[in-house]
Amino acid sequence: MKVIQSVLITGANAGLGFEAARQLAHKNTITKIYLACRNEDKANQAKQQLVELTNRDIFEIVTIDVSDSRSVKSAVSNLHSAFDAVILNAGGTGGKTPNALTADGVTTIFASNVFGHTVLVDELIKRQLVTSTIVYAGSETARGIPKMGVAKPELLNTSVAEFTAIANGSKFGGAADPLDVYGTIKLTGALWMSSMSRKYPHLRFITMSPGGTAGTNGMDDLPFVKKVFFKYLGNLMMPMLGMMHSVDKGAKRYVDALFDDQFQSGRFYASKMGSPTGPVVDQATIDPLFGMETAQDNARLAIQTLS
Ligand SMILES: NC(=O)c1ccc[n+]([C@@H]2O[C@H](COP(=O)([O-])OP(=O)(O)OC[C@H]3O[C@@H](n4cnc5c(N)ncnc54)[C@H](OP(=O)(O)O)[C@@H]3O)[C@@H](O)[C@H]2O)c1
Repeated sequence: MKVIQSVLITGANAGLGFEAARQLAHKNTITKIYLACRNEDKANQAKQQLVELTNRDIFEIVTIDVSDSRSVKSAVSNLHSAFDAVILNAGGTGGKTPNALTADGVTTIFASNVFGHTVLVDELIKRQLVTSTIVYAGSETARGIPKMGVAKPELLNTSVAEFTAIANGSKFGGAADPLDVYGTIKLTGALWMSSMSRKYPHLRFITMSPGGTAGTNGMDDLPFVKKVFFKYLGNLMMPMLGMMHSVDKGAKRYVDALFDDQFQSGRFYASKMGSPTGPVVDQATIDPLFGMETAQDNARLAIQTLS
């Protein structure tokens, strides 16, 4: 496996992305970390904190809004040196208007979790700017977490039309609860990654869930009652019940995916069934859908048609 020296992380100003940048900077082999963030003030603040925390001045800001393909393309056109790895970490519940359609005709929640990252990876490959590994932030919700009341996503036939309907929101309707559609969207991202691994065998494509992680801003945009329930009560109770772990444990999963060659290209790793924390396993052992090449390719084809 190629030695990884430089990494671009989307959504690096907060939560798991910030912590991944901090952990990577503690590795001597890492010489450059690109903090790909949408808000320049937050990015500058994060960069300053990271330099202070790690005593290393190896961070460079890349301004990018992954929910907007024009922003993604413009950011890539300003990159002039290749790097080894990308962590596609930005995302979450899609802001205040998760179901609103972007200029690309996809919902904001799909754009920020999947579509913008697919445009980013396509552009990086086209310009030969990424040389080794792509890690995508998956989620246990993509196969359901029954213990937490998160149902397994229901797919009808995994056709291109169905993945298109997931992307433009017509599968769910304009009033869909972001917590109900999030798992299906992350599932689509994981399938796209697996298809990409077969299309570009010279690169490693690994979907890695950070696992249930307390203390991030991931629930901030939910309506007030849900935010209180999931963010504040959840952050207190879930770790005690073993349903959430700390942000350093979550981000370490990304770092492991980058450096440990037991993690194979085209696979989706997340916690064992029944838990969103603990050791990770290949999710195709839980749900065979993740290993189905037709479903993987249909997810990619639907996305490609949107590009
Ligand atoms: N926390 C968990 O339990 C958990 C579990 C499984 C998977 N995940 C996944 O892990 C990833 C990180 O989540 P987190 O918990 O660390 O959340 P977080 O604290 O809210 O951090 C999300 C990061 O993504 C950025 N971001 C969001 N939309 C963006 C956009 N359109 N363009 C650029 N950056 C954008 C945010 O930037 P701003 O600060 O500007 O908003 C922030 O830096 C997400 O993909 C999430 O779905 C999280």
